[in-house]
Amino acid sequence: MNPLAKELNEVIQKANPHVFNMLSEVGKNLYFPKGILSQSAEAKEKAHKFNATIGMATEKGDTMHLPSVIAMVNGLKPKECLTYAPSFGIMPLRRAWKKEMLKKNPSLEGKAISLPIVTNAITHGLSVVSDMWINPGDVIILPDKMWGNYNLIFSVRRQAKIVHFSLFDETGGFNLKSFQDCLETQAKANKKLVVILNFPNNPTGYTPTVSEADTIASILIDQATRGTNILAISDDAYFGLFYENNSLKESIFSRIVNQNPRLLGIKLDGATKENYVWGLRVGFITYGAYFENSHEDVYNALERKTAGAVRGSISNASHLGQSMTLKSMQSDTYWSEKKSKFNIMKERALEVKRVLADPKYRDAWEPYPFNSGYFMCLKLRNVEAEPLRVHLLEKYGVGLISLGKYDLRVAFSCIEKDDVQELFDTILQGVKDLGS
Ligand SMILES: Cc1ncc(COP(=O)(O)O)c(C=O)c1O
Repeated sequence: MNPLAKELNEVIQKANPHVFNMLSEVGKNLYFPKGILSQSAEAKEKAHKFNATIGMATEKGDTMHLPSVIAMVNGLKPKECLTYAPSFGIMPLRRAWKKEMLKKNPSLEGKAISLPIVTNAITHGLSVVSDMWINPGDVIILPDKMWGNYNLIFSVRRQAKIVHFSLFDETGGFNLKSFQDCLETQAKANKKLVVILNFPNNPTGYTPTVSEADTIASILIDQATRGTNILAISDDAYFGLFYENNSLKESIFSRIVNQNPRLLGIKLDGATKENYVWGLRVGFITYGAYFENSHEDVYNALERKTAGAVRGSISNASHLGQSMTLKSMQSDTYWSEKKSKFNIMKERALEVKRVLADPKYRDAWEPYPFNSGYFMCLKLRNVEAEPLRVHLLEKYGVGLISLGKYDLRVAFSCIEKDDVQELFDTILQGVKDLGS
Protein backbone atom coordinates (compact mmCIF):
# COMPACT_ATOMS: atom_id res chain seq x y z
CA MET A 1 0.00 0.00 0.00
CA ASN A 2 1.20 3.49 -0.83
CA PRO A 3 2.47 5.29 2.31
CA LEU A 4 0.15 8.22 1.55
CA ALA A 5 -2.86 5.88 1.60
CA LYS A 6 -1.61 4.44 4.89
CA GLU A 7 -1.38 7.91 6.40
CA LEU A 8 -4.94 8.76 5.37
CA ASN A 9 -6.19 5.39 6.67
CA GLU A 10 -4.61 6.02 10.05
CA VAL A 11 -6.35 9.39 10.36
CA ILE A 12 -9.74 7.87 9.45
CA GLN A 13 -9.29 4.76 11.59
CA LYS A 14 -8.31 6.80 14.63
CA ALA A 15 -11.28 9.14 14.22
CA ASN A 16 -13.87 6.43 13.56
CA PRO A 17 -12.97 2.75 12.92
CA HIS A 18 -16.48 2.03 11.57
CA VAL A 19 -16.10 4.56 8.80
CA PHE A 20 -12.70 3.07 8.00
CA ASN A 21 -14.21 -0.44 7.89
CA MET A 22 -16.84 0.74 5.42
CA LEU A 23 -14.19 1.75 2.86
CA SER A 24 -13.81 -0.73 -0.01
CA GLU A 25 -10.44 -2.31 -0.74
CA VAL A 26 -10.04 0.32 -3.46
CA GLY A 27 -11.04 3.02 -0.96
CA LYS A 28 -8.44 1.84 1.54
CA ASN A 29 -5.77 2.00 -1.16
CA LEU A 30 -6.78 5.41 -2.47
CA TYR A 31 -4.65 8.49 -1.84
CA PHE A 32 -4.05 11.80 -3.53
CA PRO A 33 -0.69 11.62 -5.29
CA LYS A 34 1.99 14.17 -4.60
CA GLY A 35 3.53 13.77 -8.09
CA ILE A 36 2.97 16.27 -10.86
CA LEU A 37 0.03 18.06 -9.28
CA SER A 38 1.66 19.00 -5.99
CA GLN A 39 5.02 19.77 -7.61
CA SER A 40 3.21 22.02 -10.02
CA ALA A 41 1.24 23.68 -7.21
CA GLU A 42 4.54 24.34 -5.40
CA ALA A 43 6.02 25.76 -8.59
CA LYS A 44 3.01 28.03 -9.07
CA GLU A 45 3.95 29.77 -5.84
CA LYS A 46 7.74 29.79 -6.12
CA ALA A 47 8.84 29.39 -9.75
CA HIS A 48 9.18 33.10 -10.61
CA LYS A 49 11.67 32.48 -13.43
CA PHE A 50 10.32 29.57 -15.50
CA ASN A 51 7.47 27.21 -14.67
CA ALA A 52 7.84 24.12 -16.84
CA THR A 53 5.86 21.69 -14.71
CA ILE A 54 2.44 20.89 -16.12
CA GLY A 55 1.14 19.53 -19.43
CA MET A 56 -0.60 22.68 -20.56
CA ALA A 57 0.74 25.44 -22.81
CA THR A 58 1.27 29.15 -22.26
CA GLU A 59 1.99 32.03 -24.57
CA LYS A 60 3.04 35.57 -23.59
CA GLY A 61 2.08 34.91 -19.98
CA ASP A 62 -1.45 33.73 -20.85
CA THR A 63 -3.01 30.33 -21.39
CA MET A 64 -2.45 29.25 -24.99
CA HIS A 65 -5.75 29.08 -26.83
CA LEU A 66 -7.36 29.08 -30.23
CA PRO A 67 -9.20 32.39 -30.77
CA SER A 68 -12.07 30.47 -32.37
CA VAL A 69 -12.55 28.56 -29.10
CA ILE A 70 -12.38 31.47 -26.68
CA ALA A 71 -14.63 33.58 -28.95
CA MET A 72 -17.49 31.28 -27.95
CA VAL A 73 -17.01 31.85 -24.21
CA ASN A 74 -18.29 35.21 -23.15
CA GLY A 75 -17.12 36.56 -19.80
CA LEU A 76 -14.54 33.92 -18.88
CA LYS A 77 -10.77 34.29 -19.31
CA PRO A 78 -8.85 31.38 -20.90
CA LYS A 79 -7.34 30.51 -17.53
CA GLU A 80 -10.80 30.30 -15.96
CA CYS A 81 -12.15 27.78 -18.43
CA LEU A 82 -9.51 26.15 -20.64
CA THR A 83 -6.94 25.17 -18.00
CA TYR A 84 -7.22 22.03 -15.88
CA ALA A 85 -9.29 22.38 -12.72
CA PRO A 86 -7.94 20.72 -9.56
CA SER A 87 -9.11 17.11 -9.03
CA PHE A 88 -10.92 18.37 -5.91
CA GLY A 89 -12.75 20.98 -7.99
CA ILE A 90 -12.14 24.73 -7.95
CA MET A 91 -12.14 26.02 -4.38
CA PRO A 92 -14.51 29.00 -4.81
CA LEU A 93 -17.14 26.68 -6.30
CA ARG A 94 -16.70 24.09 -3.52
CA ARG A 95 -17.14 26.84 -0.92
CA ALA A 96 -20.10 28.43 -2.71
CA TRP A 97 -21.86 25.06 -3.12
CA LYS A 98 -21.42 24.27 0.57
CA LYS A 99 -22.73 27.70 1.57
CA GLU A 100 -25.75 27.18 -0.68
CA MET A 101 -26.26 23.66 0.72
CA LEU A 102 -26.48 25.10 4.25
CA LYS A 103 -28.95 27.73 3.07
CA LYS A 104 -31.12 25.10 1.33
CA ASN A 105 -30.93 22.67 4.28
CA PRO A 106 -31.33 24.75 7.45
CA SER A 107 -31.15 21.60 9.65
CA LEU A 108 -27.49 21.23 8.64
CA GLU A 109 -26.74 24.39 10.61
CA GLY A 110 -24.16 23.60 13.29
CA LYS A 111 -23.48 20.11 11.93
CA ALA A 112 -20.01 19.21 10.70
CA ILE A 113 -19.84 18.19 7.05
CA SER A 114 -16.97 17.99 4.58
CA LEU A 115 -16.29 20.42 1.78
CA PRO A 116 -17.91 19.08 -1.40
CA ILE A 117 -15.61 17.42 -3.97
CA VAL A 118 -16.50 18.25 -7.57
CA THR A 119 -17.34 15.36 -9.89
CA ASN A 120 -18.28 15.08 -13.54
CA ALA A 121 -21.92 15.37 -12.44
CA ILE A 122 -23.80 12.90 -10.27
CA THR A 123 -23.35 9.77 -12.38
CA HIS A 124 -19.59 10.10 -12.03
CA GLY A 125 -20.02 10.97 -8.35
CA LEU A 126 -21.91 7.72 -7.84
CA SER A 127 -19.16 5.80 -9.64
CA VAL A 128 -16.51 7.42 -7.43
CA VAL A 129 -18.55 6.53 -4.33
CA SER A 130 -18.95 3.02 -5.71
CA ASP A 131 -15.19 2.59 -6.21
CA MET A 132 -14.37 4.02 -2.82
CA TRP A 133 -17.02 2.41 -0.62
CA ILE A 134 -18.39 -0.72 -2.31
CA ASN A 135 -16.77 -4.13 -2.40
CA PRO A 136 -18.04 -6.92 -4.67
CA GLY A 137 -20.92 -8.66 -2.90
CA ASP A 138 -21.90 -5.64 -0.74
CA VAL A 139 -25.66 -5.23 -0.37
CA ILE A 140 -27.31 -2.05 -1.64
CA ILE A 141 -30.87 -1.38 -0.54
CA LEU A 142 -33.01 0.46 -3.09
CA PRO A 143 -36.74 0.87 -3.69
CA ASP A 144 -38.46 -1.24 -6.37
CA LYS A 145 -38.81 1.95 -8.39
CA MET A 146 -35.38 3.35 -9.07
CA TRP A 147 -33.15 4.98 -11.66
CA GLY A 148 -31.98 2.12 -13.89
CA ASN A 149 -28.40 3.35 -14.12
CA TYR A 150 -27.75 2.22 -10.54
CA ASN A 151 -27.55 -1.29 -12.04
CA LEU A 152 -24.62 -0.35 -14.27
CA ILE A 153 -22.87 1.77 -11.66
CA PHE A 154 -23.13 -0.61 -8.72
CA SER A 155 -23.99 -4.11 -9.97
CA VAL A 156 -22.15 -4.29 -13.28
CA ARG A 157 -19.12 -2.18 -12.48
CA ARG A 158 -18.67 -3.19 -8.82
CA GLN A 159 -20.62 -6.47 -8.50
CA ALA A 160 -22.75 -5.17 -5.64
CA LYS A 161 -26.00 -6.96 -4.85
CA ILE A 162 -29.08 -4.73 -5.17
CA VAL A 163 -31.95 -5.66 -2.87
CA HIS A 164 -35.35 -3.99 -3.17
CA PHE A 165 -38.05 -2.83 -0.79
CA SER A 166 -41.49 -1.61 -1.93
CA LEU A 167 -41.47 2.16 -2.33
CA PHE A 168 -45.20 2.64 -1.66
CA ASP A 169 -47.61 1.18 0.85
CA GLU A 170 -51.32 0.68 0.15
CA THR A 171 -52.17 4.19 1.38
CA GLY A 172 -49.86 5.76 -1.20
CA GLY A 173 -47.19 6.77 1.31
CA PHE A 174 -43.56 5.71 1.67
CA ASN A 175 -43.53 2.06 2.70
CA LEU A 176 -41.75 2.42 6.03
CA LYS A 177 -42.51 -1.16 7.03
CA SER A 178 -41.08 -2.64 3.86
CA PHE A 179 -38.00 -0.41 4.24
CA GLN A 180 -37.48 -1.41 7.86
CA ASP A 181 -38.09 -5.13 7.19
CA CYS A 182 -35.64 -5.08 4.30
CA LEU A 183 -32.99 -3.38 6.43
CA GLU A 184 -33.49 -5.76 9.35
CA THR A 185 -33.44 -8.88 7.16
CA GLN A 186 -30.29 -7.78 5.37
CA ALA A 187 -28.63 -6.76 8.65
CA LYS A 188 -28.89 -10.36 9.86
CA ALA A 189 -26.49 -11.48 7.15
CA ASN A 190 -24.36 -8.37 6.62
CA LYS A 191 -22.26 -6.20 8.92
CA LYS A 192 -22.37 -3.35 6.43
CA LEU A 193 -25.35 -2.11 4.43
CA VAL A 194 -25.56 0.55 1.76
CA VAL A 195 -28.85 2.42 1.39
CA ILE A 196 -29.57 4.77 -1.51
CA LEU A 197 -32.17 7.42 -0.84
CA ASN A 198 -33.19 9.27 -4.00
CA PHE A 199 -35.72 12.05 -3.37
CA PRO A 200 -37.32 13.40 -5.51
CA ASN A 201 -37.42 9.85 -6.82
CA ASN A 202 -36.76 8.90 -10.40
CA PRO A 203 -39.05 7.53 -11.89
CA THR A 204 -42.06 8.32 -9.67
CA GLY A 205 -41.41 11.93 -8.59
CA TYR A 206 -42.05 11.08 -4.94
CA THR A 207 -40.50 12.81 -1.93
CA PRO A 208 -41.46 11.57 1.55
CA THR A 209 -43.40 13.71 3.97
CA VAL A 210 -41.49 15.30 6.86
CA SER A 211 -42.74 12.64 9.24
CA GLU A 212 -41.85 9.80 6.84
CA ALA A 213 -38.37 11.28 6.44
CA ASP A 214 -37.95 11.48 10.21
CA THR A 215 -38.94 7.83 10.50
CA ILE A 216 -36.60 6.76 7.66
CA ALA A 217 -33.75 8.51 9.49
CA SER A 218 -34.66 6.95 12.83
CA ILE A 219 -34.85 3.46 11.26
CA LEU A 220 -31.30 3.97 9.95
CA ILE A 221 -30.04 5.37 13.25
CA ASP A 222 -31.68 2.49 15.14
CA GLN A 223 -30.10 -0.13 12.94
CA ALA A 224 -26.70 1.55 13.33
CA THR A 225 -27.19 1.58 17.09
CA ARG A 226 -27.77 -2.17 16.91
CA GLY A 227 -24.32 -2.61 15.36
CA THR A 228 -24.76 -2.48 11.57
CA ASN A 229 -22.43 -0.18 9.65
CA ILE A 230 -24.62 1.87 7.35
CA LEU A 231 -23.64 3.96 4.38
CA ALA A 232 -26.60 6.19 3.57
CA ILE A 233 -26.18 7.71 0.14
CA SER A 234 -28.59 10.48 -0.75
CA ASP A 235 -28.93 11.04 -4.48
CA ASP A 236 -30.34 14.56 -4.54
CA ALA A 237 -30.26 14.98 -8.32
CA TYR A 238 -33.69 16.71 -8.42
CA PHE A 239 -33.27 18.61 -5.15
CA GLY A 240 -35.39 21.68 -4.59
CA LEU A 241 -38.19 20.79 -6.99
CA PHE A 242 -40.75 20.20 -4.24
CA TYR A 243 -44.27 21.18 -5.23
CA GLU A 244 -46.47 20.32 -2.25
CA ASN A 245 -46.66 21.59 1.29
CA ASN A 246 -46.27 18.44 3.30
CA SER A 247 -43.19 16.95 1.62
CA LEU A 248 -39.69 17.19 3.03
CA LYS A 249 -38.00 20.31 1.68
CA GLU A 250 -34.48 19.38 2.74
CA SER A 251 -32.14 16.55 1.87
CA ILE A 252 -32.55 13.43 4.00
CA PHE A 253 -28.77 13.80 4.44
CA SER A 254 -29.48 16.56 6.97
CA ARG A 255 -31.32 13.97 9.13
CA ILE A 256 -28.40 11.50 9.02
CA VAL A 257 -25.30 13.63 9.56
CA ASN A 258 -23.44 13.37 12.90
CA GLN A 259 -26.06 10.96 14.34
CA ASN A 260 -24.25 7.69 15.03
CA PRO A 261 -20.64 6.46 14.67
CA ARG A 262 -21.82 3.60 12.45
CA LEU A 263 -23.87 5.81 10.14
CA LEU A 264 -22.06 7.61 7.34
CA GLY A 265 -24.03 10.01 5.14
CA ILE A 266 -22.82 10.72 1.63
CA LYS A 267 -24.64 13.43 -0.28
CA LEU A 268 -24.58 13.48 -4.05
CA ASP A 269 -25.97 16.50 -5.74
CA GLY A 270 -25.22 18.73 -8.66
CA ALA A 271 -25.96 21.67 -10.83
CA THR A 272 -27.08 19.37 -13.66
CA LYS A 273 -30.80 19.12 -12.90
CA GLU A 274 -31.10 21.75 -10.17
CA ASN A 275 -29.67 24.53 -12.30
CA TYR A 276 -30.74 23.13 -15.69
CA VAL A 277 -27.17 22.68 -16.98
CA TRP A 278 -27.21 18.97 -17.81
CA GLY A 279 -24.35 19.12 -20.28
CA LEU A 280 -22.02 21.15 -18.07
CA ARG A 281 -21.46 18.02 -15.95
CA VAL A 282 -20.98 19.55 -12.51
CA GLY A 283 -21.77 17.45 -9.45
CA PHE A 284 -20.58 17.13 -5.84
CA ILE A 285 -19.82 14.52 -3.16
CA THR A 286 -20.17 15.64 0.47
CA TYR A 287 -19.59 13.58 3.62
CA GLY A 288 -21.44 13.75 6.91
CA ALA A 289 -20.17 11.34 9.55
CA TYR A 290 -19.94 11.12 13.31
CA PHE A 291 -16.53 11.77 14.83
CA GLU A 292 -15.86 12.20 18.55
CA ASN A 293 -13.24 14.88 18.14
CA SER A 294 -12.24 17.38 15.49
CA HIS A 295 -13.79 16.68 12.11
CA GLU A 296 -11.34 18.66 10.03
CA ASP A 297 -8.45 16.19 9.63
CA VAL A 298 -10.67 13.25 8.94
CA TYR A 299 -12.85 15.06 6.39
CA ASN A 300 -9.63 16.22 4.79
CA ALA A 301 -8.49 12.57 4.58
CA LEU A 302 -11.81 11.50 3.03
CA GLU A 303 -11.64 14.40 0.58
CA ARG A 304 -8.10 13.43 -0.45
CA LYS A 305 -9.13 9.84 -1.10
CA THR A 306 -12.17 11.02 -3.07
CA ALA A 307 -10.07 13.43 -5.13
CA GLY A 308 -7.68 10.52 -5.73
CA ALA A 309 -10.59 8.55 -7.18
CA VAL A 310 -11.45 11.53 -9.40
CA ARG A 311 -7.78 11.84 -10.44
CA GLY A 312 -7.71 8.14 -11.31
CA SER A 313 -10.92 8.21 -13.36
CA ILE A 314 -11.37 11.55 -15.17
CA SER A 315 -8.47 13.51 -13.64
CA ASN A 316 -10.68 16.55 -13.12
CA ALA A 317 -14.14 17.81 -14.02
CA SER A 318 -14.61 20.43 -16.75
CA HIS A 319 -13.18 23.79 -15.71
CA LEU A 320 -15.55 25.50 -18.14
CA GLY A 321 -18.56 23.81 -16.49
CA GLN A 322 -17.33 24.69 -13.00
CA SER A 323 -16.63 28.34 -13.82
CA MET A 324 -19.96 28.83 -15.56
CA THR A 325 -21.79 27.26 -12.61
CA LEU A 326 -19.90 29.42 -10.12
CA LYS A 327 -20.38 32.71 -12.00
CA SER A 328 -24.07 31.98 -12.38
CA MET A 329 -24.36 31.29 -8.64
CA GLN A 330 -22.64 34.61 -7.95
CA SER A 331 -24.95 36.56 -10.21
CA ASP A 332 -27.45 38.98 -8.62
CA THR A 333 -30.33 37.40 -10.45
CA TYR A 334 -29.42 33.76 -9.65
CA TRP A 335 -32.13 33.11 -7.06
CA SER A 336 -34.85 34.89 -9.01
CA GLU A 337 -33.88 32.97 -12.16
CA LYS A 338 -34.11 29.70 -10.24
CA LYS A 339 -37.44 30.69 -8.75
CA SER A 340 -38.94 31.48 -12.14
CA LYS A 341 -37.93 28.08 -13.58
CA PHE A 342 -39.19 26.37 -10.43
CA ASN A 343 -42.57 28.05 -10.92
CA ILE A 344 -42.80 26.72 -14.47
CA MET A 345 -42.02 23.18 -13.32
CA LYS A 346 -44.49 23.46 -10.45
CA GLU A 347 -47.27 24.72 -12.72
CA ARG A 348 -46.72 21.72 -14.99
CA ALA A 349 -46.79 19.27 -12.07
CA LEU A 350 -50.00 20.81 -10.72
CA GLU A 351 -51.54 20.73 -14.19
CA VAL A 352 -50.71 17.01 -14.43
CA LYS A 353 -52.52 16.51 -11.10
CA ARG A 354 -55.52 18.52 -12.27
CA VAL A 355 -55.80 16.66 -15.55
CA LEU A 356 -55.37 13.23 -13.97
CA ALA A 357 -58.13 13.88 -11.45
CA ASP A 358 -60.63 13.35 -14.29
CA PRO A 359 -62.43 10.02 -13.71
CA LYS A 360 -62.24 9.21 -17.42
CA TYR A 361 -58.69 7.91 -16.92
CA ARG A 362 -59.57 5.69 -13.99
CA ASP A 363 -59.98 2.43 -15.90
CA ALA A 364 -56.79 2.95 -17.89
CA TRP A 365 -54.25 3.61 -15.13
CA GLU A 366 -53.45 4.65 -11.63
CA PRO A 367 -50.80 7.34 -11.17
CA TYR A 368 -48.14 6.56 -8.56
CA PRO A 369 -47.95 9.24 -5.84
CA PHE A 370 -45.86 12.23 -6.93
CA ASN A 371 -45.13 15.64 -5.47
CA SER A 372 -41.71 16.69 -6.81
CA GLY A 373 -38.98 16.45 -9.44
CA TYR A 374 -39.12 16.00 -13.21
CA PHE A 375 -41.26 12.86 -13.56
CA MET A 376 -44.43 11.04 -12.72
CA CYS A 377 -45.32 7.45 -13.42
CA LEU A 378 -48.52 5.67 -14.50
CA LYS A 379 -49.35 2.13 -13.44
CA LEU A 380 -51.29 0.75 -16.41
CA ARG A 381 -54.25 -1.48 -15.66
CA ASN A 382 -55.03 -3.35 -18.87
CA VAL A 383 -52.21 -2.93 -21.38
CA GLU A 384 -48.49 -3.50 -21.12
CA ALA A 385 -46.16 -0.52 -21.06
CA GLU A 386 -43.75 -1.44 -23.84
CA PRO A 387 -46.34 -2.14 -26.57
CA LEU A 388 -48.16 1.05 -25.54
CA ARG A 389 -44.94 3.06 -25.69
CA VAL A 390 -44.19 1.79 -29.20
CA HIS A 391 -47.78 2.39 -30.33
CA LEU A 392 -47.85 5.96 -28.98
CA LEU A 393 -44.57 6.69 -30.66
CA GLU A 394 -45.48 5.24 -34.03
CA LYS A 395 -49.11 6.31 -34.33
CA TYR A 396 -49.08 9.63 -32.45
CA GLY A 397 -45.42 10.71 -32.30
CA VAL A 398 -45.52 10.71 -28.47
CA GLY A 399 -42.35 9.55 -26.66
CA LEU A 400 -42.53 8.11 -23.14
CA ILE A 401 -40.50 5.58 -21.16
CA SER A 402 -41.76 2.09 -20.36
CA LEU A 403 -40.43 0.58 -17.15
CA GLY A 404 -41.11 -2.98 -16.13
CA LYS A 405 -44.29 -4.57 -17.41
CA TYR A 406 -46.92 -1.96 -16.54
CA ASP A 407 -45.19 1.32 -15.66
CA LEU A 408 -45.01 4.29 -17.99
CA ARG A 409 -42.81 7.25 -17.02
CA VAL A 410 -43.82 10.74 -18.11
CA ALA A 411 -41.18 13.51 -17.97
CA PHE A 412 -43.56 16.44 -17.46
CA SER A 413 -40.43 18.57 -17.20
CA CYS A 414 -40.46 18.51 -21.03
CA ILE A 415 -44.18 19.22 -21.54
CA GLU A 416 -45.60 22.75 -21.64
CA LYS A 417 -48.46 23.29 -19.22
CA ASP A 418 -50.91 23.87 -22.08
CA ASP A 419 -50.01 20.53 -23.68
CA VAL A 420 -50.52 18.38 -20.58
CA GLN A 421 -54.21 17.68 -21.25
CA GLU A 422 -53.53 16.62 -24.84
CA LEU A 423 -50.65 14.41 -23.78
CA PHE A 424 -52.76 12.38 -21.35
CA ASP A 425 -55.71 12.24 -23.73
CA THR A 426 -53.38 10.81 -26.36
CA ILE A 427 -52.07 8.22 -23.92
CA LEU A 428 -55.67 7.29 -23.09
CA GLN A 429 -56.47 6.98 -26.80
CA GLY A 430 -53.41 4.72 -27.19
CA VAL A 431 -54.65 2.51 -24.35
CA LYS A 432 -58.07 2.29 -26.03
CA ASP A 433 -56.50 1.47 -29.43
CA LEU A 434 -54.58 -1.44 -27.92
CA GLY A 435 -57.52 -2.63 -25.87
CA SER A 436 -59.88 -2.89 -28.82
C1 LIG B 1 -31.75 9.71 -9.70
C2 LIG B 1 -30.72 10.23 -10.63
N1 LIG B 1 -29.45 10.37 -10.21
C3 LIG B 1 -28.49 10.83 -11.02
C4 LIG B 1 -28.76 11.15 -12.33
C5 LIG B 1 -27.64 11.61 -13.21
O1 LIG B 1 -27.39 12.95 -13.07
P1 LIG B 1 -26.14 13.65 -13.77
O2 LIG B 1 -26.61 14.14 -15.10
O3 LIG B 1 -25.80 14.74 -12.81
O4 LIG B 1 -25.04 12.65 -13.92
C6 LIG B 1 -30.05 11.02 -12.81
C7 LIG B 1 -30.32 11.36 -14.22
O5 LIG B 1 -31.13 10.93 -14.92
C8 LIG B 1 -31.05 10.53 -11.95
O6 LIG B 1 -32.31 10.39 -12.37
